[in-house]
Amino acid sequence: MTFETTIELNNGVKIPQLGYGTALISESQEETADAILRAMELGYRHLDTASIYYNEAAVGEAVRRSGLPRSELFVTTKLWTTDMRAEREYDAFRESLSRLGLDYVDLYLIHWPVRGRYQKSWEVLERIQAEGLARAIGVSNFNPHHIDDLIAMGGTVPAVNQYQFHPQMSCPDLRSYCRAHGVVLEACQPLGQGIYVDDPALGEIGQKYGKSAVQVVLRWELQHGVVTIPKSSRAERMRENCSLFDFELNSEDMAVIDRMNLDRSVTPDADPETFTF
Ligand SMILES: NC(=O)c1ccc[n+]([C@@H]2O[C@H](COP(=O)([O-])OP(=O)(O)OC[C@H]3O[C@@H](n4cnc5c(N)ncnc54)[C@H](OP(=O)(O)O)[C@@H]3O)[C@@H](O)[C@H]2O)c1
Repeated sequence: MTFETTIELNNGVKIPQLGYGTALISESQEETADAILRAMELGYRHLDTASIYYNEAAVGEAVRRSGLPRSELFVTTKLWTTDMRAEREYDAFRESLSRLGLDYVDLYLIHWPVRGRYQKSWEVLERIQAEGLARAIGVSNFNPHHIDDLIAMGGTVPAVNQYQFHPQMSCPDLRSYCRAHGVVLEACQPLGQGIYVDDPALGEIGQKYGKSAVQVVLRWELQHGVVTIPKSSRAERMRENCSLFDFELNSEDMAVIDRMNLDRSVTPDADPETFTF
């Protein structure tokens, strides 16, 4: 496993397993673009954004300033709930593309399963993919029954489900569901938004390998075959978060971390079954 390692999606598109999350980097578009550019200089090639992050323009600017060939980058963005409720999914996508200043995205996701609308939205994503504007399409915050509804439509099976995933929220049932249906699980909030930095048990495991608790968490995610997109605004942490390829957790340490699951979300108000936003 290396920083360049990719996972093949169900349509053959390859997603870099370690990416860079761009939510809430800074209120300044310029600082956001600078941070994303820094991440790309460190080797990150997979950028995760969303229309609700209000930073797609900064992502696009960083992509252009990097000078990297578009084909070497993997850019994800997401359809927000209000655009689903207003039945303007296709226009919302075109607006995202225009803010990004790109000809296509690599992955387009339904951000949340808006009840009564996500099947219709999925048809629009299928159209977007058929038009060559998204290389792959998927979902986020979908529980198995939501994905079942999409699969029952008989068209495209979502390539990815981006879902909260970290040691206290390791979603064993969702993980086996995704594996069984060929849906790649992508960890959002992979550091539990920072709660593991001083975790004694993870710190102790890290000491054995000369790594931090945060690096242990990310390595555990990679070894589970999960795509992960840690966010940091700070260069030294961006570097820490990608210095994961010179050690391997042994099976006992993997099992210790597996046992930390509490099904505990760090954002309990944002539940896929009850959200109202
Ligand atoms: N699909 C969804 O609904 C959804 C929801 C949430 C997030 N996401 C995506 O997932 C990405 C990651 O999630 P997230 O940003 O919420 O949380 P996260 O990556 O779990 O954690 C980010 C927090 O951890 C801190 N941090 C990062 N690296 C660190 C390190 N090495 N040592 C100590 N602290 C560290 C960051 O602070 P500093 O920045 O100050 O370093 C920040 O406060 C987002 O950026 C977004 O792309 C998607």
